[in-house]
Amino acid sequence: MTALISARGLTRTYRLGRVDVPALRGVDVELAAGEFVAITGPSGSGKSTLMHILGCLDTATSGHYAIDGEDVSRLRGKALARVRNRKVGFVFQTFNLMPRLTVEENVALPLRYRGGIARLERRARARRLLERLGLGDRIGHRPDELSGGQRQRVAIARALIGEPAILMADEPTGNLDSQAGAQVLETFDELHRAGHAIVLVTHDPGVAARAERIIQIADGRIAGAA
Ligand SMILES: Nc1ncnc2c1ncn2[C@@H]1O[C@H](COP(=O)(O)OP(=O)(O)OP(=O)(O)O)[C@@H](O)[C@H]1O
Ligand SMILES: [Mg+2]
Repeated sequence: MTALISARGLTRTYRLGRVDVPALRGVDVELAAGEFVAITGPSGSGKSTLMHILGCLDTATSGHYAIDGEDVSRLRGKALARVRNRKVGFVFQTFNLMPRLTVEENVALPLRYRGGIARLERRARARRLLERLGLGDRIGHRPDELSGGQRQRVAIARALIGEPAILMADEPTGNLDSQAGAQVLETFDELHRAGHAIVLVTHDPGVAARAERIIQIADGRIAGAA
């Protein structure tokens, strides 16, 4: 079976004025279809940097990265965005929903960017997904009319609408109280049971423990696996 994610020797150095900040110092990651992996580590260890590269939001300074069989090591800008739109569903700590759009419009948005799918079909798909995530009665609401947990489940629906190869989430429960966080984690568990591959970043050991496998990052390197 080919790996969904195959990353070798990833480095990422940020340039701050004349100073180089090495955030990743050579990281290997492999992920198979259907796997649920958590990435943990202290603040500043490079978790978000790694996720942004794995999620095709950023490019490594050096190293090799292939996602779902496609080598994206050297892609930037629009070419990288095109791969991201097709292969990755990304969930952010702060939800990142569009405040003026309804729940349904937010969820359908990635399909609009992708093009080639009629508006009615986009809406129908968004509704189906929202119903599946228990939000069928909220489709006409704006994000600020929802609870935090509901907003994050809308963001998960938006991440899934393009049927990505991988679902990625960076501290998806970081802005939620424990009850809303538990509901969102339950949603990830269900998606995993349904066969989705998931990579989740968290500094919370209780959250990480729900994954099948844990990758620990410290100071830009893999410090352990469990
Ligand atoms: N855009 C940037 N420019 C310069 N340095 C950055 C940038 N983004 C991150 N860094 C630095 O890179 C290192 C890794 O940051 P990163 O955001 O990946 O950490 P993290 O593990 O996600 O931390 P947290 O748990 O606080 O979210 C840190 O030293 C950080 O200061
Ligand atoms: Mg981070």
